Amino acid sequence: MLPKTTYTHTLVGMACLVPQATAFFRLPCSYSAVVERADPIMDPGTVSNHLHAVMGSNAFNFTLDYPTTQMATCSTCKVIEDKSSYWVPSLFYRAQNGSFVRVQQSGGALIYYLQRTDQKDPEFDKGLIAFPEGFRMVAGDMMNRNDSNPESLAQKAVSFVCLGVNGPASPKLPKQNCPNGLRTQLIFPSCWDGHNLDSEDHKSHMAYPTGVDSGSCPSTHPKRFITIFYEVTWSVDAFKDEWYDKTKQPFVFSHGDPEGFGYHGDFLNGWEVEVLQRAIEDCTASSGVIEECSAFTFWKDEEMAGCKVLPRVNEPVDGVLAALPGCNPVQNGPEPAVLQKDCGAVTEIGDPVLPFTDLSKTLNWRYVGCAKDPAGQGRTLDGPSDDRADMTVDSCVEFCDSKGFNYAGLEYKSQCFCGNGVAQDRMPANGTTGECDYPCAGDAKQICGGYGQVSVYLRCDEGNCRNADLTKLW
Ligand SMILES: *[C@@H]1O[C@H](CO)[C@@H](O)[C@H](O)[C@H]1NC(C)=O
Ligand SMILES: *[C@@H]1O[C@H](CO)[C@@H](O)[C@H](O)[C@H]1NC(C)=O
Ligand SMILES: *[C@@H]1O[C@H](CO)[C@@H](O)[C@H](O)[C@H]1NC(C)=O
Ligand SMILES: *[C@@H]1O[C@H](CO)[C@@H](O)[C@H](O)[C@H]1NC(C)=O
Repeated sequence: MLPKTTYTHTLVGMACLVPQATAFFRLPCSYSAVVERADPIMDPGTVSNHLHAVMGSNAFNFTLDYPTTQMATCSTCKVIEDKSSYWVPSLFYRAQNGSFVRVQQSGGALIYYLQRTDQKDPEFDKGLIAFPEGFRMVAGDMMNRNDSNPESLAQKAVSFVCLGVNGPASPKLPKQNCPNGLRTQLIFPSCWDGHNLDSEDHKSHMAYPTGVDSGSCPSTHPKRFITIFYEVTWSVDAFKDEWYDKTKQPFVFSHGDPEGFGYHGDFLNGWEVEVLQRAIEDCTASSGVIEECSAFTFWKDEEMAGCKVLPRVNEPVDGVLAALPGCNPVQNGPEPAVLQKDCGAVTEIGDPVLPFTDLSKTLNWRYVGCAKDPAGQGRTLDGPSDDRADMTVDSCVEFCDSKGFNYAGLEYKSQCFCGNGVAQDRMPANGTTGECDYPCAGDAKQICGGYGQVSVYLRCDEGNCRNADLTKLW
């Protein structure tokens, strides 16, 4: 059946070639803006219970309202008019000795916007609507640890796909390696009570339609939003040689969930509402290709990849961890998990963790930024260079200093380059912090550039030596 909102368009446009039920657009998000125990919906103003991978705008914070979302200067998701945040629990590998290693995402996420509607919707004639300002919701139940009610719509909304292996999506984490990645999938409810932007459990203002992502809305929740659906892919193949128990898979979500029955996701609306409404009506191609939507303008890939939120919870989330961040012992179920507290995990929101080393008061060199250094296009810093297994920020700065250069740059963990300036077009895109996030070869606590990315420092005068202020991007 043709949805009302696209009816006119269909007649005027592509006749009836495309069944409108398949209309959608797919919003690509690059890597997470931050991986941190923050959750402005579930745990506003505090360090949250478990670790999240957060996609979307750099306005993300421990508390977040709509006006603040609109101050973002970049997003890891492609559409400039979307300053929303999209987050899910992180995935960890649990080693045989009980330690945990975070699984990287292969890319960020794909957020599907599906124009699903049904003639039996109570307000079918009013058409699909965009999320209003201030709207937020949660899908999934982090406490759930069983699938004993497979008829539950909320449970059907969660699924896992093992990429590179044939077979259907499964309701729990697969018991085999996924050579092309593990894809976690989550459908959000699309039926709204029409009044509440949020609710105490962050769910009951919303309901699933009869078919989870299709079918009609209940009379209690008569208004129909566009359906959102998250796909996040995890590079589980990196652990393919580290499976140790034939009866179990070794991955666990950050909330201590070893099967995935408690997988969940959060959405905090930061859309320019009228733009999303226009897209709902106009972006009805069945290809899902977002570039075909004239309603939108787009960030460049570099702007998405360089869009970071500085973490403020002073705890490691990478490397080999003795426990999952926060108080999250693995709870197998089937009974619901019990929330744990007071295990000694960090509870303070601290100062932002800066992606550079402060040498402004010791060596009188200041951090300039994370510049690009693309291969084969001439070095960003073209003076003397060095490459050492014990490279640190300090040793590179001292090297360039001793050679009489004003600029020093660290790249790809172990490389050091000196120069006398950085071309403006190599500097990070405006409003972004850039992509420098590799630990230094000689000190894993320091950052030494990245792949084709150079952490640049500049000699400065004592008393007038200030690092680039990455906390004032917006
Ligand atoms: C995030 O919130 C903290 C307080 O929790 C505040 O100090 C900080 O300025 C906020 N970050 C940004 C980028 O506004
Ligand atoms: C535990 O296992 C991890 C992953 O295999 C390994 O990196 C780590 O060194 C081990 N830790 C100890 C204390 O043996
Ligand atoms: C299964 O999970 C549901 C929802 O979390 C819970 O109410 C039920 O008690 C659980 N079943 C068992 C056998 O523990
Ligand atoms: C950033 O903005 C400044 C001032 O508007 C401009 O001079 C500079 O060229 C911009 N840089 C980039 C990389 O676009």
